[in-house]
Amino acid sequence: MSMSLYQIMYISTVVGTVTSQQCAAMAQMSAINNRRNDVTGLLLFNSRRFLQVLEGPKDAVDRIFTRIHADPRHRAVVKLREGPIDAREFGEWAMAYDDPARPSADLKDKVAALLVQAGPSTRAHFIGSADLHRPAA
Ligand SMILES: Cc1cc2nc3c(=O)[nH]c(=O)nc-3n(C[C@H](O)[C@H](O)[C@H](O)COP(=O)(O)O)c2cc1C
Repeated sequence: MSMSLYQIMYISTVVGTVTSQQCAAMAQMSAINNRRNDVTGLLLFNSRRFLQVLEGPKDAVDRIFTRIHADPRHRAVVKLREGPIDAREFGEWAMAYDDPARPSADLKDKVAALLVQAGPSTRAHFIGSADLHRPAA
């Protein structure tokens, strides 16, 4: 049997700066919390904007999104898409961000690898957002 699935996609703008260490901590905490709630998706941080998909049981997705929305580390949170889905676009929960410790790994390549099951609209949003990434010189 399969429970009905719900998905939210949003963008937001970072407040101040978030370091790769802070990203790593956020990713670790979120991965544990989301797995516990059967929530999958992708969080992309391109150094300026966040783009995230959350998918899973509606009550869990709504609850986690409400918490994220109130997080002071970002602002201008705008839902791009919301509604029931037939199947998940992501097999797990993951976060992609620029890691200065691994400068050779291109953000766009990391993101592409996480989009193998995603539909064209979701792919376009994430690839576009990764493309806007211009590392500080
Ligand atoms: C852009 C962004 C995305 C986030 N994504 C998640 C997420 O997917 N899952 C999650 O549990 N927390 C996520 N968080 C962290 C939550 O906002 C919140 O800090 C965390 O759930 C802990 O909540 P608490 O301090 O009320 O325990 C995200 C935060 C930001 C800024």
